[in-house]
Amino acid sequence: MKLRILIIGLLGFGIVIVLLTRGCESPANKGEALYQSKCANCHGENGKGFSIYPPLANSDYFLENKDEFACIVYYGIEGEITVNGQKYSQRMLGDPTLSATQIANLMNYVYGRWGNKKVEVNSEDIENRLNNCDSELVK
Ligand code: HEC
Repeated sequence: MKLRILIIGLLGFGIVIVLLTRGCESPANKGEALYQSKCANCHGENGKGFSIYPPLANSDYFLENKDEFACIVYYGIEGEITVNGQKYSQRMLGDPTLSATQIANLMNYVYGRWGNKKVEVNSEDIENRLNNCDSELVK
């Protein structure tokens, strides 16, 4: 009898562990992994930016141009922009290898983390945005 309880207990414990580790694969975490591999080099691990790379964390530009986020990431951005009163005029290449789902994951992550303006977008929202970008692909 005790053995049975022990086995049931262990099974339950196992299920909890499986659920916890699957939680790590949530979209926000995928967004984090993407950010760290694709953006952190320039914008910094904590989104603070440095030198010619504008910040994403606590950035007025980032907050005000939420609708442009998908276009910036996919098509890139160049020309002068003002972020927190500071002028930047470099060029960021777009990454057209990113899927709409990946951009959605990224956006949910970065705005959830630094935007104080949490967004919840899905791949359809991103596709709609990408069909209405002003910018051309920056190569
Ligand atoms: C090779 C360096 C580099 C990488 C990698 C990079 N960026 Fe940028 N990013 C820049 C530069 C430089 C600018 C400023 C462009 C300008 O001056 O017009 C910029 C501007 C931006 C802006 C608009 C300005 C702001 O502060 O809000 C956003 C949003 C942005 N990047 C997001 C991203 C995201 C998300 C990724 C990852 C998918 C990424 N960037 C990867 C260099 C980079």
